[in-house]
Amino acid sequence: MKLSVIGAGYVGLTTAACLAQVGHDVFCSESDVEKLSKLQNGVMPLFEPHLEDVIKGIREVGRLHFGSTEEAIVWADVIFICVGTPPLANGDADLSAIEGVARVIAKRATGYRLVIEKSTVPVQTGAQLQKHLSVLSTNGLKYDVASNPEFLREGTSVEDFLHPDRIVIGADSPRATQLLSEIYEPIVKQKFACPIHSDCAKRKEPVFLVTDTGSAELIKHASNSFLAMKISFINMVANLCEAVGADVTRVAQGMGLDPRIGPAFLNPGIGFGGFCFPKDVQAFIRIAEKSGCDFSLLKEVEKINQRRVEHFVEKVRKELWVLRGKKIAIWGLAFKPNTDDVRFAPSIALVKSLLDESADVRAYDPEAMEKAKSVLPNITYCSTPYEAAEGADAIVIVTEWEEFRQMDWNRLLSIVEQPLVIDGRNVFNPEEISGKGFRYVSIGRVDASPDGPTVRENIDSSPRTGNRIQEVPA
Ligand code: UGA
Repeated sequence: MKLSVIGAGYVGLTTAACLAQVGHDVFCSESDVEKLSKLQNGVMPLFEPHLEDVIKGIREVGRLHFGSTEEAIVWADVIFICVGTPPLANGDADLSAIEGVARVIAKRATGYRLVIEKSTVPVQTGAQLQKHLSVLSTNGLKYDVASNPEFLREGTSVEDFLHPDRIVIGADSPRATQLLSEIYEPIVKQKFACPIHSDCAKRKEPVFLVTDTGSAELIKHASNSFLAMKISFINMVANLCEAVGADVTRVAQGMGLDPRIGPAFLNPGIGFGGFCFPKDVQAFIRIAEKSGCDFSLLKEVEKINQRRVEHFVEKVRKELWVLRGKKIAIWGLAFKPNTDDVRFAPSIALVKSLLDESADVRAYDPEAMEKAKSVLPNITYCSTPYEAAEGADAIVIVTEWEEFRQMDWNRLLSIVEQPLVIDGRNVFNPEEISGKGFRYVSIGRVDASPDGPTVRENIDSSPRTGNRIQEVPA
């Protein structure tokens, strides 16, 4: 089937490439001319595992084309909107890009169009879109609007798109449902040439869930907010573990064994980032507020996440005391591994906070340094993790890239100023690193040094002075 995708960000580009991979003839548009020119010339504007190979392969067989929004609207009866919905100052999602696309559709469409929202949008955006298309359209054409929220994660987007757990369709017309069923048939039946796995025929068929448009819109925001809540929850449990000398890894493992809880998204750390969770939690709070529901639970989720970096900086201060002039190696800038995305990455707030205290920050990330340079221009970028660690008073792990699990710790020991690792993602077992001669501080676990573990004890919990933490040998 001929399909159009508007917007070539992480979601749009993956959607376009994967729909072409499963057999459709896809036109993907991008309004940023520099990005469009890169795509037309076979240059990737972003890093996402497997995506470049998929795009190369399907362009060779002529099933993926890039161009303008106007061209995309003329190209197909089915249009996926994948434009950005960034946060406004008040937390609302900015829907101006979606509204802009609706205008072009109303002006340029040459016949029936099924307009599908794939961008994350507040509930009732579909209804607004339907209303605006009718009002703006002067040629009496028929439009259907459907919601098809995307659940892919950056870093595994191709795999998530081709092998999803569920495909959610919110459609209020039989024609829209029928078209979307046809589009997704190869994925629902898992019948396509998989560019990633050789054994994907054995894979499970996803659930194809059809609802009304509003419910589908809510499924997306509710899912992201729930996952964010799980992360903030385990982060608070981690704080409690630190206060009482327990181990959050074991607590999370024990909790996750209950199938009602499940083990996923119980990794504590320096907080969730990226262009989805922080803005979607904010937007969901606003949607609830506007609908007369006080979703204060999510306000706490947000607050807990905002405090993560400060809590982490406190750990750095506790180890290094005065930060002025201290050399700090930052390993990882991306908001998670396998992406070059630094939007709302905890690394940004962390580095800014260290710079405020005049620390000397030397950073390394395998993919995200180019994107980080525009937000953090005043730090030293290094071409290897070893270079960042040279003369460092602390190695601080912010993103759990696989590369950091493969380091030569003897080499590191010989080049650092102080053998100290402060791990914001619990990449290692404490004994593993302390056994290499480093002091190891992580999240929600007992700190470990070459002389043995050190537990933190609450020695003063009087309301006047607050909790003070003292280290005592275990
Ligand atoms: C998230 C959702 O997982 C996707 O389902 C959704 O489609 C996407 O948002 C979106 O709305 O577009 P993504 O932001 O790519 O995907 O990344 P996640 O893997 O969900 O991680 C988000 C953040 O949470 C990262 O900073 C990660 O480090 C953090 N995280 C995740 C934790 O701190 N602990 C965990 O246990 C899991």
